[in-house]
Amino acid sequence: LLVNHSISFQNLSFFYENAEKPALKNLNFDIKKGSSIGLVGSTGAGKTTLVDLILGLLEPSEGEFKVDHAIIDEKNTRQWQKSLGYVPQDIYLVDASISENIALGIPVEKIDQSQVEKCAELAQVHDFILEELAHGYQTQVGERGVRLSGGQRQRIGIARALYHDPEVLVFDEATSALDNVTEKAVIEAVNILSHKKTIIMIAHRLSTVKNCDQIIYLEQGEIIDSGNYQELIERNPKFRNMAI
Ligand code: GTP
Ligand code: MG
Repeated sequence: LLVNHSISFQNLSFFYENAEKPALKNLNFDIKKGSSIGLVGSTGAGKTTLVDLILGLLEPSEGEFKVDHAIIDEKNTRQWQKSLGYVPQDIYLVDASISENIALGIPVEKIDQSQVEKCAELAQVHDFILEELAHGYQTQVGERGVRLSGGQRQRIGIARALYHDPEVLVFDEATSALDNVTEKAVIEAVNILSHKKTIIMIAHRLSTVKNCDQIIYLEQGEIIDSGNYQELIERNPKFRNMAI
C-alpha cells in the first residue's frame, strides 16, 4: 500500500455543505508516480478543493480518490499524509530560528543542518539567509524576530516541504509571491528532483506550470481540458487567453 504513489480520481464529485452546485464534478484522471501536474483555472474553479481532497482533508461526496488502488479513508489517511509535502499559499512561521522553521517539528538537537541547507538551496533561499540575515540559519523569525517578505516566507515554506524528502509535493500557489526569475529557478530545482517525486502545482500564472507533464484545466468544478502546455495552447482558445 502506498508504495507506488499513483493517484487516481474516479467519478469524483464534491459538494460543500448547503452548496447548490458541486465544487468538483465527476472528475476522472490519474497522476503517475514521478510526474508533474499543473492545476489551472479561474478563481472558484475548484483547485484548492481538489488539493484538499488530495491532502485527505476532505472526503469525496461521490466517486473515489485512490492511491495505489486503495481508497484513502480514516485508516490510511495518516500514512498517506506522511508521504506528502504541502506548501500552502500562506506560510506559517513559528517564533524560532530559520533552521527550526525549515525543519519544523524536529527537536533542535535532531535537526539535520546539512539537509536544512540543501533544501534552502533548492528553494533559492540559502544565499538570502547567509548574506542578509545577521545570524544566518540561527536568526530568529516570527513575531519576536526578523520579519520576512511574502516571497521569502514562501521559499522557507518550500524548503520546509522538501526537508522530509516527501514522495509527493503539493504546491497551492506556492510561488505566487516570487518574481519570474526566482520562480523559474525554484521550479527548475524542484523539477530536478521530480524524476522520483510526484509534483502537483496549482497556479494562476501559466508560466508556473509550463513544463508540467500534464496540465489540468478546471472550470466550475469540471475538467474542461487536459494535456501538456503546447497541446493546450494549440487547441484551446480559453487557455491561450490565460497565457496573455
Ligand atoms: P481560487 O483559490 O480563488 O483560485 O479558487 P479555487 O479554484 O481554489 O476554488 P475553491 O476550490 O476554493 O472553490 C471552489 C468552489 O467551492 C467555489 O464555488 C467556492 O465558492 C466553493 N467553496 C470553497 N470553499 C468552500 C467552503 O468552505 N464552503 C462552501 N459552501 N463553499 C466553498
Ligand atoms: Mg484556491
